[in-house]
Amino acid sequence: MNKIISKHFYSENVAEIVVEAPLIARSRKAGHFVIVRVDKNGERMPLTISDADVENGTITLVVQRIGVSSSKLCALDAGDVIADLVGPLGKATAIRNYGTVVCACGGVGAAPMLPIAEALKAAGNRVISVLAGRSKDLIILEEEVRAVSDEVIIMTDDGSYGEKGLVTQKLQELIDAGNQYDAVIAIGPIPMMKFVSLTTKPAGIKTIVSLNPIMIDGTGMCGGCRVTVSGKTKFACVDGPDFDGHEVDFDELMRRNTSHKAQETHDREHCRLRGAHNG
Ligand code: FES
Repeated sequence: MNKIISKHFYSENVAEIVVEAPLIARSRKAGHFVIVRVDKNGERMPLTISDADVENGTITLVVQRIGVSSSKLCALDAGDVIADLVGPLGKATAIRNYGTVVCACGGVGAAPMLPIAEALKAAGNRVISVLAGRSKDLIILEEEVRAVSDEVIIMTDDGSYGEKGLVTQKLQELIDAGNQYDAVIAIGPIPMMKFVSLTTKPAGIKTIVSLNPIMIDGTGMCGGCRVTVSGKTKFACVDGPDFDGHEVDFDELMRRNTSHKAQETHDREHCRLRGAHNG
């Protein structure tokens, strides 16, 4: 059991949760994630570690309220406990001095990106971060990202903050203007990572994406997180979560990730009705 130390909402549906996990705090590296089970019967939910405090023995997770489990997690408060939390899992992000790196974040993708941008900066890279979201309330961690970036570009779909438009439009514009980039790291919704990869491919820019498919055991045993990369089956939990964006079969990944949607909608409605009934 892991105790929640604090929780605060960045926006209506995005919460930052600090959890007691001293061993994970000590060994985690940028790119690592944990699998959380909110209660005994809960599903397993992969969440990237966005920060850690070794002294206080805590890790920071950012959760977007989209399904039943994430809603349950967002409903917990400081002092409550999570049934179990396993990690750190996955391979740490390959940090090296690439030169100039664009860190493209879609929505809550800024949370897993933050430790990566920080490590890239510490390795001597010039870090250009793009924070993108549908609207202003989905732009999170701006101050923290600014602190570890040489330049920050904000994009919103509706123009409510920063420049109006998609991250891919901005990237294309920057590439067309003759800017040289040595690597792009993209973390966000699957379509966003797909289109970032399609944008960088013709320019031959190395592109790393961080995949977050459905996960169950997180140890490479169940096959739940399988993805096709360079025509071969990989398990995101042990071979990833980072992969070469130019080699990922995003269409297959999108199909697999939406295959549980009907069940998820049913479960969410069931929880809502039960809450209304009990309340
Ligand atoms: Fe089971 Fe990756 S979550 S193989």
